[in-house]
Amino acid sequence: MEWGMANRMAQLIQSDGRCLFLPIDHGYFQGPTRKLEQPRKTLEPIVQYADAVFVTRGVLRSSVDPDKAKPIILRVSGGTSMVGKDLANEGITTSMEEAIRLNVSAVGISIFVGSDYEKESLLNLSKLVDDGEKYGIPVMAVTAVGKELEKRDARYLALCSRIAAELGARVVKTYWCENFDKVTQGCPVPVVMAGGPHVDTELEVFEFVHDGIQKGAVGVNLGRNVWQNDHPVAMIKALRAIIHENATPKEAQEIYDSVKSGKQE
Ligand code: 5RP
Repeated sequence: MEWGMANRMAQLIQSDGRCLFLPIDHGYFQGPTRKLEQPRKTLEPIVQYADAVFVTRGVLRSSVDPDKAKPIILRVSGGTSMVGKDLANEGITTSMEEAIRLNVSAVGISIFVGSDYEKESLLNLSKLVDDGEKYGIPVMAVTAVGKELEKRDARYLALCSRIAAELGARVVKTYWCENFDKVTQGCPVPVVMAGGPHVDTELEVFEFVHDGIQKGAVGVNLGRNVWQNDHPVAMIKALRAIIHENATPKEAQEIYDSVKSGKQE
């Protein structure tokens, strides 16, 4: 691996082989979604606990201070919205020159396997990888399911993740599912887990993140279940403990409760 690529990968995946990415890119198709209405305010208390932030160029410029920033994964696909015809019909929204100008550590793009736009999204990924490799910029592929959340099973996610890796993604972001080892074992590049919509209890999140790590994920790219939680700092600290300190779900819950009640900073 060339020095630039290796250096950028090391900014993302920490020396323990693990990572906690914090995505705040949801507005690119969801608009001002709940608790991300003002990205700067959402980010301010929690950014220090993230290893990298996944964000579009618009929110990066407007809401992230360049002198306090964490490594950036730039969301470079889009062009669709929640109210449009098909979320899968994305294009590349941001050039590699812009990514370089913004000094990012990686770029991220969604693929929509099985959709009417499967081919376009996979060719977009391939083109982005060609451009990124020229400049030593890793591509994170996001195995998107659009509104069809029920698609999140091992067979489908293993298929998407493997295809993303075959086309050159350096990191694959997918969803946790039952039998998650089928996904990680079939994917020759590091896999990180997204959270999906906000779930009922913190423990559910701790349990799936812990299970996914045991089954081969290197970390998370987890947004709504952090910043839509009433106690986002407690949540991100507890997740950090699972990812970087091998905490159990029960220990993570204790950290969450203790930070929430003010007993621990
Ligand atoms: C949507 C994304 C998000 O980065 C990804 O889904 C992770 O966020 P969450 O944990 O909220 O699902 O790709 O734009």
